[in-house]
Amino acid sequence: MSAEVWLVTGGLGFIGSNFVRMALRERPDISIVNLDAVTYAANPANLADVMHDLRYSFVKGDIADERAVADLLAHRPFDVIVNFAAETHVDRSILDADAFLRTDVLGTYVLLKAARKANVRRFLQVSTDEVYGHVPTGASNEDAPIAPRSPYAASKAGGDLQVLAYAATFDLPALITRGSNTYGPYQYPEKFIPLFITNLIDDWPVPLYGDGLQVRDWLHVEDHARGILAVLERGENGQIYNLGGDNSRTNLEVTQRLVELCERSFETHVRHVTDRPGHDRRYALDCTKARAIGWSPQHDFASGIVDTVRWYRENEAWWRPLKLGAFADYYETQYSKRGTH
Ligand code: TYD
Repeated sequence: MSAEVWLVTGGLGFIGSNFVRMALRERPDISIVNLDAVTYAANPANLADVMHDLRYSFVKGDIADERAVADLLAHRPFDVIVNFAAETHVDRSILDADAFLRTDVLGTYVLLKAARKANVRRFLQVSTDEVYGHVPTGASNEDAPIAPRSPYAASKAGGDLQVLAYAATFDLPALITRGSNTYGPYQYPEKFIPLFITNLIDDWPVPLYGDGLQVRDWLHVEDHARGILAVLERGENGQIYNLGGDNSRTNLEVTQRLVELCERSFETHVRHVTDRPGHDRRYALDCTKARAIGWSPQHDFASGIVDTVRWYRENEAWWRPLKLGAFADYYETQYSKRGTH
């Protein structure tokens, strides 16, 4: 069998770059083309270590740009497409959701059309547990109704529905993964865990929304990447697979641990600020289906968070430049008017 070529979109982002690194390492018989628009959250440094791998190549482009996607697929046959490309930050979607609709809905649709034309063997859509909305008790399995409550989650749900429609209508061999909150190396420091770690390292305060009793299920990025690989290789077409970390924590608990690991004090460094509008109180996933195809998360949060803090301490040269310039403006817009309570 000739070596397969996988198109990975958004491979310069957090989960995408961890996936590319893992797939190249663990599947010596594939090559990867990474299509990435290099938006603010993408970073070529995320894949500096595989840049010279002959099985890896990079193409700059936007998945919502129909011509760019068609050109790429016209010139190279792809066996597989894995779509990581997305706008993902809830708080930014509350400020302005234009880019979310463009990338997460329209971009997914453009890729689906191209995948159908190219007759790919597999199309995997990387999605999120946030499409299920707030889960007051129990855990969402894949049959739970989608009930997104933020512009971000609604845009991901729109993409998911297009994927399912393409699978049903055109028999496109497509699948969806829905991951829980992900943490680990190379996460852009606007998200909760890397924002708090980097602020604490710099002796800055951290903004905890509302009472901090919101519950998230934390999945290590290596487990997430491994789960996507498992679904890609062993999942059933037309199906959705939840990937959760089995590590539920309140934001308050996580904050306390981060403060401790960064050797700061809760009283001086934690600001309780005005809550996010429409803030989902709890997410929880039932992952029976992914476990049935042999996947389960390997990292527990207790050690994963220690390793993650260490990674940010040891890789200041990676994140420091990211917190300057446009990020500083975003931080000001997002946080300066948030009163404490
Ligand atoms: P986030 O990393 O934005 O992920 P999501 O909203 O997709 O779950 O936030 C994780 C949790 O942390 C969420 O409940 C919101 C909270 N949070 C804060 O309390 N303060 C912050 O500055 C941020 C960014 C998040």
